[in-house]
Amino acid sequence: MISARIRAIVERIPEGTKVIADAACDHAYISIDALRCLRAEFSYACDINAAPLARARENIEFFGYAKRIATRLSDGLLGLLPKEIERIDTVVLAGIGGWLTIGIILDAFDMFDMKDKQFVISAQSDLPELRRFLHKIGLKIDDEIMIFDEKYYNIMNVSKGIQEFTDLEYEFGKNLIDKKDRVFIECIEKKIKKFENFGDSPKVIERIEKLKCLL
Ligand SMILES: C[S@@+](CC[C@H](N)C(=O)[O-])C[C@H]1O[C@@H](n2cnc3c(N)ncnc32)[C@H](O)[C@@H]1O
Repeated sequence: MISARIRAIVERIPEGTKVIADAACDHAYISIDALRCLRAEFSYACDINAAPLARARENIEFFGYAKRIATRLSDGLLGLLPKEIERIDTVVLAGIGGWLTIGIILDAFDMFDMKDKQFVISAQSDLPELRRFLHKIGLKIDDEIMIFDEKYYNIMNVSKGIQEFTDLEYEFGKNLIDKKDRVFIECIEKKIKKFENFGDSPKVIERIEKLKCLL
């Protein structure tokens, strides 16, 4: 039930977090595991669709967290009250695409005071666009890791601040490049091998050279 991916996301919830918002919660496993691992004391589990939210409620009941996980049928965080938003220390956005993540953050910033929130973000696509967007709205990427759980997943810790990356850092993630993250290196090596089977057109060679710079 609790996959390595979910556990890794939960472990990235910053110390001192009391209340999380589990936006796009689906089964609510992130909320449940966060409470179980003492990474949070309370969660608002939000989902835009009724069927996943019903599944979330069943799981929350089953694991005995009905008093500490509140479910909301909600587009991102928009279904929460301002006083509920105020209580939230950390917003978790996981298992959705980069553009949907951007939309949910943008809407929340339009509606509420979000500046002092922490974010744990594990988007499944469009990471360069997401990194650029975070910087544009005055958020910085404090750390980023890559994990492997049948697929590669990135997990970012994000908070208020000014930061700028180079094009390469926007594309691949500055923290991953700087730290020579083990899983990241493995992922890049696999990509290089894949491209080496694509022949030797100038574009393929250029791509391989770029990837090799990251090792
Ligand atoms: C693949 S699940 C991710 C579940 C969980 N966050 C995880 O990482 O395992 C994606 C969920 O996002 C929900 N969703 C899609 N758009 C949404 C939105 N705008 N606001 C809230 N939830 C949304 C879907 O209904 C679905 O349950």
